[in-house]
Amino acid sequence: MKDILQQLEDRRAAARLGGGQRRIDSQHAKGKLTARERIELLLDEGSFEEFDMFKTHRCTEFGMDADKPAGDGVITGWGTINGRMVYVFSQDFTVFGGSLSETHAQKICKIQDMAIQNGAPIIGLNDSGGARIQEGVDSLAGYAEVFQRNIMASGVVPQISVIMGPCAGGAVYSPAMTDFIFMVKDTSYMFVTGPDVVKTVTNEVVTAEELGGASTHTKKSSVADGAFENDVEALAEVRRLVDFLPLNNREKPPVRPFFDEPGRIENSLDTIVPENPNTPYDMKELITKVADEGDFYEIQEDYAKNIITGFIRLEGQTVGVVANQPMVLAGCLDIDASRKAARFVRFCDCFEIPILTLVDVPGFLPGTSQEYGGVIKHGAKLLFAYGEATVPKVTVITRKAYGGAYDVMASKHLRGDFNYAWPTAEIAVMGAKGATEIIHRADLGDADKIAAHTKDYEDRFATPFVAAERGFIDEVIQPKSTRRRVSRAFASLRNKQLKNPWKKHDNIPL
Ligand code: HXC
Repeated sequence: MKDILQQLEDRRAAARLGGGQRRIDSQHAKGKLTARERIELLLDEGSFEEFDMFKTHRCTEFGMDADKPAGDGVITGWGTINGRMVYVFSQDFTVFGGSLSETHAQKICKIQDMAIQNGAPIIGLNDSGGARIQEGVDSLAGYAEVFQRNIMASGVVPQISVIMGPCAGGAVYSPAMTDFIFMVKDTSYMFVTGPDVVKTVTNEVVTAEELGGASTHTKKSSVADGAFENDVEALAEVRRLVDFLPLNNREKPPVRPFFDEPGRIENSLDTIVPENPNTPYDMKELITKVADEGDFYEIQEDYAKNIITGFIRLEGQTVGVVANQPMVLAGCLDIDASRKAARFVRFCDCFEIPILTLVDVPGFLPGTSQEYGGVIKHGAKLLFAYGEATVPKVTVITRKAYGGAYDVMASKHLRGDFNYAWPTAEIAVMGAKGATEIIHRADLGDADKIAAHTKDYEDRFATPFVAAERGFIDEVIQPKSTRRRVSRAFASLRNKQLKNPWKKHDNIPL
């Protein structure tokens, strides 16, 4: 009996060594942790339960039958993050470069199936040379099995990918279908075709980092949602993110204890909007002043900075925030901002996360590059996302809400539940100057007349009161009491029930 127990421990010890000490050392030398060290940091101490530790590949080509490391290059199982269950897979670069074989894929599929069935998030730690070359089409089939499950899990359980090494070729499409992608700076990259192929086909010379590093994907392509200094920071941030999210689409987001008075008055907000309507101010200040304990978890911080997306808590409950940022492009909506915010709104709606929208938007960004780039279709994404969302929606207009952008930004007409405005709000078809130049074109040569018309227009339309007279704005509120008003609004909506008509699925303008 003792022998058998010892045998088990010996087998476990061998499996834990993955591809061996030499390769572990090489992984460390690159500044990367091993697959097991990453799981330890991600999960609560001692909570990891492993599946398929002894699973091996079945390939016999190229002498592979003589090399069958236990676990086959991926560690899978479940554990907890701050006591809440998650499923996890972590690719082991020390075993055949973390490459994906038929059996490696089966291990990932097993936890994907369990996560969907049991309603818990899936976290994938990616560090892989891609398809296991020796296995050919079996490996490709394995990828497609994983992809199919990514699709089935979408909107059912949150899926988070962390890119912690190479991720190339078709392998990028599994993370691409998950809800959030985090990347580690300098040690991770994602691309469909690498620098060598790029050089051959297009003659461009580019490094792996320039083509698909963390900076590229968080600033230029928006493929990734966050970039972090090293493995430790990236994993700590995943833990923070998971704390905001529900475990699945049948559950409400978690409620955390909070130590911040919901009725807290912030006098500084009364003066945050500058006298001059063209002077910017930092919308993030408003977000942090409204949030419990000033805690704001930003998503896609480095991309389309003219719109801000992320999570806060109000009375301990997760709320998704979408806010125009007057500091960048005057807060205009453009293609990138519309896509970024639309995806965020849809994520919140999938997982029953209420949405707070803070509006200061002078309109859609004009120009040929926007029109040629399809701003009509991309802007429609955000409009569509807000309109289909059935979660509680509370909107605060702080300053400008002009034209189509007024409609788009969670207006009353898109089933906004509470639509508040500050006294500084200007809700109109366009700004006073532009409007005057159109409706009083005949007076354009007379500066005094134009100034008088502009003043007239400002007095009548550059206020929240016309919209409030119509009931499009439920109440004009004091800026300093925004946290109290918004918290109470969401509290009153906790039992909101709203269903869209039955359909197979919608046809959002992609
Ligand atoms: C089998 C692989 C492998 C792979 C790496 N290894 N990639 N084994 N299949 N795809 C093995 C190496 O043989 C080596 O084994 C060990 O992993 C580490 O690899 P190194 O090359 O020494 O590491 P490094 O210098 O860090 O380079 C990492 C790398 C490089 C950039 C990922 O290994 C590489 O280019 N690999 C091939 C990538 C690729 O072309 N994959 C297929 C992409 S197509 P030893 O025994 O020496 O430790 C694809 C399609 C997916 O993925 C389609 C889905 C639809």
